[in-house]
Amino acid sequence: MVLNVTKPNLVLRQLIDRDTWTYTYLLVDPVSLQGVLIDPVQEQLGRDLSLIKELGVELLYVLETHVHADHVTAAGQIRQKTGAKIVYSEAAGVKAIDVAIKDRETLTFGAYEITALATPGHTNGCVSYVVDGMLFSGDSLLIHGCGRTDFQQGSAEQLYDSITQKLFSLPDETLVYPGHDYTGRTSSTIAEEKRWNRRLGGGKSKQAFVQIMNNLNLDLPKKINEAVPANLETGISFDPKRYLHEEFSMCDLHTAWKTHGSDELIVDTRSATEFSSGHVPGAKNIAFGDEGEHVEALKSYKRVYLYCRSGRRAQTVFTNLSIMGLNNLVCVGHSGMPDWVSAGYPVE
Ligand SMILES: [Fe+2]
Repeated sequence: MVLNVTKPNLVLRQLIDRDTWTYTYLLVDPVSLQGVLIDPVQEQLGRDLSLIKELGVELLYVLETHVHADHVTAAGQIRQKTGAKIVYSEAAGVKAIDVAIKDRETLTFGAYEITALATPGHTNGCVSYVVDGMLFSGDSLLIHGCGRTDFQQGSAEQLYDSITQKLFSLPDETLVYPGHDYTGRTSSTIAEEKRWNRRLGGGKSKQAFVQIMNNLNLDLPKKINEAVPANLETGISFDPKRYLHEEFSMCDLHTAWKTHGSDELIVDTRSATEFSSGHVPGAKNIAFGDEGEHVEALKSYKRVYLYCRSGRRAQTVFTNLSIMGLNNLVCVGHSGMPDWVSAGYPVE
């Protein structure tokens, strides 16, 4: 037994895309190595996947602060490669996400809880995230500035309220990590922004703020026509009609197993080693990551059931195969082989 354990420091990696001056953040609990990635950029997919692999991170969530207009997200591709769940605010209207997060809801990775704060104004679906004394503010609050409010259902009035009522009520020492900075600054604090933010610091009135925002006369972002439609589909072309996430348990699988004919297949998506230590009788092993090689064969079945140990790999395989055109899949998404064993069902 270990006594007097204090929480070790959260690992933070701040990454930049120099084309769009976008910050991506990787946050990792150093003990469990579970982590989250905030606002990944498509062009930096390789960089981010390498880092996640090198640090041995089990990526649980890709957190998006909003539907970006200046770059395409890597969220969809990162989900395909890691099994991480994609998180957007409910109001963002993005198809095929895994978690539609609400104001004040939390997600857990390792010993940490990250809390979403709805901060509409830059877009109507903007959300900021708070964890361990740090605020990831997306494009709501920037260092000594804020995001524009002239497209994507933006509203200067709403942004003023989001920042002054919600973000400025966080402790003064809270570190602010924005979605962009165009001058090389990497972080700020709530106290600093309350005092020095050019647009709404120093107690500036809502009326003064709205006047500033309505007279910015900015050009549209270069990639807006490409980025927004792509980001509404998690960055990759995807038919949401195929993304039917059924609540299907190992108990339901057992019922299907008892009656399934030759036109149905049960697929175990764990590794070969896990498979050989005991699996559902008659199941075929297609390890997570290898599913792309079996698309044509799987298409010939009326129904294909997917399971793994906890449901995470099966869900990712489900998503990947759905993107590749399969619509005959049923996924055990929240349990797996240990539940089959403890229920006393036969094991091969
Ligand atoms: Fe933005």
